[in-house]
Amino acid sequence: DKHNFVTIADLTREKILYMIEMAQEFEKHPNRELLKGKVVATLFFEPSTRTRLSFETAANRLGARVIGFADPKVTSGTKGETLKDTILMVSNYADVIVMRHYIEGAAQYASEVAPVPIVNAGDGAHQHPSQCMLDLYSIYKTQGTLENLNIYMVGDLKYGRTVHSLLMAMRHFNPTFHFVAPKELAMPKEYKLYCDEHGIKYQEHTAFNEKVIADADILYMTRVQKERFSDLMEYERVKNVYVLNNELLKNAKPNMKILHPLPRVNEIAYEVDDNPHAYYIQQAGNGLFAREAIFCDVLGITLDDVKNDKTIIK
Ligand code: CP
Repeated sequence: DKHNFVTIADLTREKILYMIEMAQEFEKHPNRELLKGKVVATLFFEPSTRTRLSFETAANRLGARVIGFADPKVTSGTKGETLKDTILMVSNYADVIVMRHYIEGAAQYASEVAPVPIVNAGDGAHQHPSQCMLDLYSIYKTQGTLENLNIYMVGDLKYGRTVHSLLMAMRHFNPTFHFVAPKELAMPKEYKLYCDEHGIKYQEHTAFNEKVIADADILYMTRVQKERFSDLMEYERVKNVYVLNNELLKNAKPNMKILHPLPRVNEIAYEVDDNPHAYYIQQAGNGLFAREAIFCDVLGITLDDVKNDKTIIK
């Protein structure tokens, strides 16, 4: 059976912990030849810095070769080729396809037509499951556990696909969520319903101040996603809504870490970068290990294979 990595909703608690353990192995030894002879395709129909480059680095560090595009304008899509035909063509060349697309559900569709595994690198405002794996890994590394944490999600909770994925994944670990957003960018009803159905505790806030975040273990900041707004006037109204600075962090718990999927625009002041609570740069670095684990998983390489791997390059 073909393994895809399209949505985080399918992952069990055991599978998440298994993937974290695999990422830990890759953090110990990132350079191996487990994917030697394989070809990885990265098809990015939307801009990216971290996701594409860390997937490509993961493929390179595992000994695979990489093909693909970072700009759909250079493809035959501009001549009218459909996504289905593009996916079928690339399946002739590659062993696994990593795809980012602006349409929600595009990765699921690709997984249904492709004979090779599909890895979702973000589909519209829907899901970003590989980001979610690196977020989970970052939370686990900084807190020593995923259990019973107070997680504050701040900013654009309407269009921010990373918070949607993280919310679903954390359902196994008894979190308390705090959704901090202006009403225009509130967590969509379907995700609040998801919380209700899975017994996930949450509160909503519109104010963002040091009192609101004083009991946070994780402060997950997000960018207001300009590219998803149909009305740019509305973007202008909300774009500066919350800005995190050192003053707001003065009552934070010692263990609290600030995450952000990046890129940031102005929602985290640059002064915060040197604050001991800042973790977003290291978080992006964890993407390499999480994505090495994802490649192995979709290509049928198990945690035992990784633990007994004799291809490590010191
Ligand atoms: N976090 C993230 O998805 O970043 P990029 O858009 O740069 O890939």
